[in-house]
Amino acid sequence: MYPEQPPGNGEPLLRIEALVKRFGGFRALDGLTFDLMPGEIVGLVGPNGSGKTTCINVISGLYSPDGGDVIYHGRPISGMPSHRLVQIGINRTFQVPKPFPTLTASENVRVAAAHGRCDCTAVDVDALLASFELDCYAGRPAAELNAGQQKMLDLARALATGPSLLCIDELAAGLNPAELVRVAERLRELARSGITLLVVEHLMGFIDQVTDRVIVLNAGRGIFEGPLRGAVTDPKVIEVFLGTENGD
Ligand SMILES: Nc1ncnc2c1ncn2[C@@H]1O[C@H](COP(=O)(O)OP(=O)(O)O)[C@@H](O)[C@H]1O
Ligand SMILES: [Mg+2]
Repeated sequence: MYPEQPPGNGEPLLRIEALVKRFGGFRALDGLTFDLMPGEIVGLVGPNGSGKTTCINVISGLYSPDGGDVIYHGRPISGMPSHRLVQIGINRTFQVPKPFPTLTASENVRVAAAHGRCDCTAVDVDALLASFELDCYAGRPAAELNAGQQKMLDLARALATGPSLLCIDELAAGLNPAELVRVAERLRELARSGITLLVVEHLMGFIDQVTDRVIVLNAGRGIFEGPLRGAVTDPKVIEVFLGTENGD
């Protein structure tokens, strides 16, 4: 039903249309609209509370939207549960990863692979762990990994499901500069292999290294779309990040 091949003819892989997500009377997403083209790495940036995680939560099926639509491969998928979305190629990582703590790193990846859309026997778990420098920890309980290693394990778990679209929520926090360089290169490799990436991140150096363009959110709406170098000189973006001259 959902092809593994990306859509052709300049069609987006994912289209977010006027998305609204309310919590009580508060609109965490308030008419958010953007497209992701196949193989793109797009940064989703914005102040704390601007709706970045909520956006990923809606795309990945954790929340149903209260308005608007999520279109994947040209078909509406809003409200589809996460396990179904994983089967059609959408997965995500978490701002605070929650591996199965008593299972080993290797078992955590195997569980993900078993619920993914690839033949799980075809997933090379050892190679996947090694690609995130977790090979020495394969047999250790996930609870023993440090925060940065748990983030890498979360990424390995998501990749084990064979995603076409991967949403990454604040991966860089907790990684040292050398790890950041290696992860940035790994994300670019994933995009070259055809995976489309939506990357939420506060570290602008990382966003600059990794992304093709950024979408800047404020109060649940997009206020800028384009290359990061354009965002940093955009008056609306400057106002949101730095406030106005009179401190408003
Ligand atoms: N489950 C929830 N219940 C109530 N409010 C929420 C919930 N999730 C997020 N929010 C609120 O929605 C807004 C956007 O949150 P979030 O998407 O986590 O922001 P960001 O990831 O950009 O920091 C915040 O004001 C947050 O408090
Ligand atoms: Mg967040």
